[in-house]
Amino acid sequence: MVTVRAPATSANLGSGFDVFGAALSKPADVVRVEPAEATTIEMAGAGSEFIPEDPEKNVAGAVAKALESPATIRIDKGVRPSSGLGSSAASAAAVAVGINAAYDLGYSREELVPYAAEGEALVSGEAHADNVAPSIMGGFTIATPEGVTQVDASIPLVVCLPEIVISTRDARRVVPRSAQVSQIVECVGRAATLVAGMFRDDPDLVGQGMEDGIVTPARADLIDGYADVREAALEAGATGVTVSGAGPAIIAACEERRRKPIASAMLDRFAGEGIEARAYQTRVGRGAELF
Ligand code: HSE
Repeated sequence: MVTVRAPATSANLGSGFDVFGAALSKPADVVRVEPAEATTIEMAGAGSEFIPEDPEKNVAGAVAKALESPATIRIDKGVRPSSGLGSSAASAAAVAVGINAAYDLGYSREELVPYAAEGEALVSGEAHADNVAPSIMGGFTIATPEGVTQVDASIPLVVCLPEIVISTRDARRVVPRSAQVSQIVECVGRAATLVAGMFRDDPDLVGQGMEDGIVTPARADLIDGYADVREAALEAGATGVTVSGAGPAIIAACEERRRKPIASAMLDRFAGEGIEARAYQTRVGRGAELF
């Protein structure tokens, strides 16, 4: 039997819709995997009551099927579903890494990404890899059809998760179908700045690169209080603020010493709107770890 801790992740980071992702040092799912004749799944932890244990309907079952390796799987959720923090991807990543180790399949971390993405396809209808890639490989990742480019980075972050539920499917429906060339030019500049910031471990550049005028404004409308919470985080010293993944979590980049005041400011602002929330003082961190 193997145990895997796979981290939550933040996809898009504003300018990198469906491409960029970052592993978060916390929270994380912890998954136990044991080879078996047929796949069975047991769920526990945050929001697990909303996740089906039927292997045909659970990301873990889809990953085990894709790897042709049935297993007894127990998932302890640290990342609640529909949070914008790659909840399903963390489970999918953990199961892919766990089955690879338990069955000694010999896949590299990068080779496991498409298998874990099969789990994502079950949940969102599309096998995008921008959450599973960082959960498996760690750091900051650039996922394209050609493969994954990974950069070790350690940018301090605050992630604020309100008690609002947004499904990825719904959040994808509001994505604009087209954009002006001027918007695309701006987005390319932001995305390039963000990549440079990750390479340099520079929170100012990463924050600048997190701005986005195409997808994020449409999604921000789905999150009550977004504009106020973003403003509060910027006033408290965030270098950039955006929607984490499909939302409702909101992510801020910052200097290490600004994490605590930013977390308080974001929580206070949500509380002022009558919305319960929790904040994680986190950073770009490691990928899935085997125990
Ligand atoms: N890139 C995806 C989206 C991630 O924003 O829809 C969500 O799983």
